[in-house]
Amino acid sequence: MTQTQLPVPETLGDLIQQLHEIFSSDKINVEEVQMLMESYKSNPADWSKFAKFDKYRYTRNLVDHGNGRFNLMILCWGEGHGSSIHDHANSHCFLKILQGQLKETLYNWPDGDHKNQELTRRWEKTFLENQCTYINDTIGLHRVENVSHTESAVSLHLYSPPFNSCHCFDERTGHKNQVNMTFWSRFGERTPFEASVSKENN
Ligand SMILES: [Fe+2]
Repeated sequence: MTQTQLPVPETLGDLIQQLHEIFSSDKINVEEVQMLMESYKSNPADWSKFAKFDKYRYTRNLVDHGNGRFNLMILCWGEGHGSSIHDHANSHCFLKILQGQLKETLYNWPDGDHKNQELTRRWEKTFLENQCTYINDTIGLHRVENVSHTESAVSLHLYSPPFNSCHCFDERTGHKNQVNMTFWSRFGERTPFEASVSKENN
């Protein structure tokens, strides 16, 4: 596939504008999006207004609605915070590190023929500032963690098409539960309490 070389986005605003252009097309080139997100050099001055931490759990903070084509959000991970093992509702999922490091553990889907069986791990990778990784349901399930006890982490996630529920999996049994996801903040404003009490995940 031919690919036009996109200019390097100098700010998060530039990146968002270029993402809008890419996602206005129905055909998405995963590598192109991944390279574009990786090429943006993280600058806290661009994104600190979205980066809201909670003491107990990682937070999801909506940055852009992507004209209904994608959701762009910033996740803030305190020391030791991590997600459960989850899927991605048949969407594309891009994850770029803005600050710190995150460990991703990839799992195989539970084997439908064997109930109550522990999920099998495929690999673990640690992603560093500015790196961008990608997953979808055909690749597997994953868990994302900030394993550091001294540094927080911030990541930029793009999901396309947007979704607001996914499945979480029990590592030991492979059992899954549907989970609704909420935003801790939207466009830099804290979400009202009633709308944000359910479990957050992905
Ligand atoms: Fe995920």
